[in-house]
Amino acid sequence: MELILIQSQEHDTLPLAELKAVLEVENIDSKIEIITEGLVVVKSLNNNDFYKNYKTLVNRLAYTHEIHELVLRTNLSKLENEFKTVNWDNYIFSDFVVRIKRFDKVEIDTPALERRLGHLVLTYNIDKDNNGKYNIDEDNIDKDNIDENNKNSVITNDFKVNLKNPNSFIRVVASKDEIFVAYEKFKLNKKHFQDIKPHKRPFFYPGSMSPKLARCMVNLSRTKKGELLLDPFCGTGGILLEGGMIGAKLIGCDINWNMKNGTLINLKHCSNFDYCEIEESDYEVYNIDVRELKLYKKVDAVVTDPPYGISTSTGGTKKGEIFHQFLESIDYNMKENAYLCIAHPHYLDFDSILDNLDFELLERHRIKMHKSLTRIISVIKKINK
Ligand SMILES: C[S@@+](CC[C@H](N)C(=O)[O-])C[C@H]1O[C@@H](n2cnc3c(N)ncnc32)[C@H](O)[C@@H]1O
Repeated sequence: MELILIQSQEHDTLPLAELKAVLEVENIDSKIEIITEGLVVVKSLNNNDFYKNYKTLVNRLAYTHEIHELVLRTNLSKLENEFKTVNWDNYIFSDFVVRIKRFDKVEIDTPALERRLGHLVLTYNIDKDNNGKYNIDEDNIDKDNIDENNKNSVITNDFKVNLKNPNSFIRVVASKDEIFVAYEKFKLNKKHFQDIKPHKRPFFYPGSMSPKLARCMVNLSRTKKGELLLDPFCGTGGILLEGGMIGAKLIGCDINWNMKNGTLINLKHCSNFDYCEIEESDYEVYNIDVRELKLYKKVDAVVTDPPYGISTSTGGTKKGEIFHQFLESIDYNMKENAYLCIAHPHYLDFDSILDNLDFELLERHRIKMHKSLTRIISVIKKINK
């Protein structure tokens, strides 16, 4: 079975890297096919845990807009005929909508094709005695049940079009060479990334990264549900919130007492959302200088955004020096092979800091913030001595 993903195009490498990291950490055996920028098919998924894995991707990914079960893969000339062969009873339970998304600037009359495909669903009928072929049963039509968009059409089943709030969402994706017909069984929780924006949290302090980037960094750190995640420069708690959303146990620390308290306030606030399962027993936050941090248990992953020495406090340390001291001391708190996903500014010679330490660089992504700052996301792994 296959999934089709519509990914964010706000960054050129992070959406795909995040997807690969989640497939890896969740042990989802599959192959990735890149159709075009922002469009990916995940193939060779095992039938038995297909929906469990589908749900996992929906629950974790930040830089993906939509994930659908792939129903049909064809081209424009064959679309209508093949669309008629789909057993829509598997996907549509009451009302539905067909929506088209175009990639590669494909020229299609989107509203007309949406109406035509919607009409084909409305007029679809299963003739079980006819060797499994699906025919329109013109003799058995309910003439009163006429779709708003197709006043002249006839309906032979119980499906109805619902443009605003459909139970079943059929996504048709048109790329340069192919058309994909897909069904959205699970929706990504876009509301969370809106609800939890830094300025909407009860404790706000400038400099907190976007919740999407924070979630992506958590994913790049290969943290699993139930594992222990540390953010030693936790600030207002943005990274910890995202770690909590994927079910990690959390430890935060900050040199600033106010920040430590703010993180606690924000974690408590997030746990009030009905979709959030973070409980008070899932997190601990300390007011401590990371260079003195000696945890009683080693963590599975560290995800962090240390101060760059511009707008955030560096605890009296020179610009950049804090990265060196942090990397030297954090090793003690990490399990062997634990991952560290860290944000740092482009002007910092991060590789030479790593030189004499027991870390291996795995991947790196660049995010242009403004003219004079590019934020680098490095994923590194503690290596066995
Ligand atoms: C860029 S902010 C972190 C922002 C955070 N990701 C958020 O969502 O708000 C860096 C934080 O590191 C803290 N900090 C600076 N030096 C520290 C140190 N030596 N040990 C622990 N925390 C430190 C600052 O107080 C600040 O809150």
